[in-house]
Amino acid sequence: MNPITEPCTLIIFGVTGHLSINKLLPALYHLEEGNRLPDKVTIIGFGRRDWSDEQWSDVVKHEIKEHARGGLNESVFERFSKRLHFQTGDLRDESSFEDLKHRLENTETFPVNHIFYLAIRPQDYNFATKNLVISGLHEENNCYCRLVIEKPFGHDLESSEVLNTQLHKSFREEQLYRIDHYLGKDTVQNILVFRFANLLLEPLWNRNYIDHVQITHAETAGVAGRSHYYDSAGALRDMIQSHLLQMLALVAMEPPAHLDANALRDEKVKALRSIRPISRNSVNMHAFRAQYAQGNIDGEVVPGYLEEDDVAHGSTTETFAAMKLYVDNWRWKGVPFYLRTGKRMKEDNFLVSIRFKRPPQQLFKDTALKQMEPNWILLNIQPEECLRIEMQVKKSGLELETRITQLDACSCDEKHKIDAYEALLLEVMEGDQSQFLRFDEVSWAWKIVDPVLRSWMEEQDYIHTYPAGTWGPDVSSRLFDSNDQFWRNKLDAKDCDL
Ligand code: BG6
Repeated sequence: MNPITEPCTLIIFGVTGHLSINKLLPALYHLEEGNRLPDKVTIIGFGRRDWSDEQWSDVVKHEIKEHARGGLNESVFERFSKRLHFQTGDLRDESSFEDLKHRLENTETFPVNHIFYLAIRPQDYNFATKNLVISGLHEENNCYCRLVIEKPFGHDLESSEVLNTQLHKSFREEQLYRIDHYLGKDTVQNILVFRFANLLLEPLWNRNYIDHVQITHAETAGVAGRSHYYDSAGALRDMIQSHLLQMLALVAMEPPAHLDANALRDEKVKALRSIRPISRNSVNMHAFRAQYAQGNIDGEVVPGYLEEDDVAHGSTTETFAAMKLYVDNWRWKGVPFYLRTGKRMKEDNFLVSIRFKRPPQQLFKDTALKQMEPNWILLNIQPEECLRIEMQVKKSGLELETRITQLDACSCDEKHKIDAYEALLLEVMEGDQSQFLRFDEVSWAWKIVDPVLRSWMEEQDYIHTYPAGTWGPDVSSRLFDSNDQFWRNKLDAKDCDL
């Protein structure tokens, strides 16, 4: 049978948490709305509340009203609510899993294929997986059992290896779906299409023509509501180890021979493992961190990181992190990749910017045109979805002057816009692991950031700050290899620190 048609029961652990409420439940609702949820898919929310199915359905309805694109459609929700069930239980309690098993096995309502979604704190993974195994719920007897694991997968290289070994004692690799939701974003998938469906780029996509690559993720949100997790994670673990290094891998990788899960992931791993390791004494040349102080966002004064609830007194956790990496292979030798992410920045934007070298000869040096601007390829991931190439053209008139013109290939189609979690949830149901991480990807990513994490952990006496509502501290430019490089914040060059 085609796996997409197989009904399944999706069991969500952590159903009252931030991720379930903001992402998972709205994504499932949108799949319902688009008639994309396979028939007979049922959804069980597992949590400590003493809720009936109806009570949970009311809670979900309320949240969907708040968080779904375009609000709630009553008739779609009525259909959706028939799939919703609630199971009261505690992750740490074996008997709760016995109860869950009993409920799953004793009615036709719940399809025998199971997907367990761990939308919980990483420190609780162990309890959930241990109890799944003790109750036998992980077994695959003429059915499948899949486990979806959110990032961060471990806290560093060592803990990720421990977690992986632990999981592999009871689960096969084919059962594990390590999620990085950036891989489900349309524009991120478009990087592959842009690179590998347009032959004209391939001859240029290398150290001969590219000066450097920047990957910038900026968000205006702070850490409110998540400080507990964030204060022990920081920007390097939260964003760079996962999402930004995945972006780097997609930009830097060689074309895969096929698009199947392993071929794709093999190439990403090859790119990640070519990254030059950062030695302990070169951390400052390759990495920079800072923390937001009080500032102003959209005309409102917002507190600094240290004033947020649940942040440890005097914490030096970084809310801004930047790195310079080199991919030491034939294609990229000598080309710096600059990665940067920050909370409470001036605007929300995620941009991959590829800057080309200047022409080898200053042909126009004796004219009004002193210095020619380099070309850029800009892949704006969000909020605006856009692929743009910047080129120079002559201004009309007698003088030899130029202006930058932009070739835009914006693929934004509001009507068909989907959230990354919609795509990824469907892929788990279809059994397609290509957009999920294999452990070697995770492990190479930890190897890259681990020396920096260790060094920052030891240096707890000082951290740079930046006012909330800015693009981060200017001093982060110290990472640049040459003084004609600068951070590119947005599609529009006017907004950059030129
Ligand atoms: C998550 C991080 O993985 O990604 C958050 O934990 C971050 O801190 C979020 O805000 C950003 O995702 P998106 O899809 O909103 O850009």
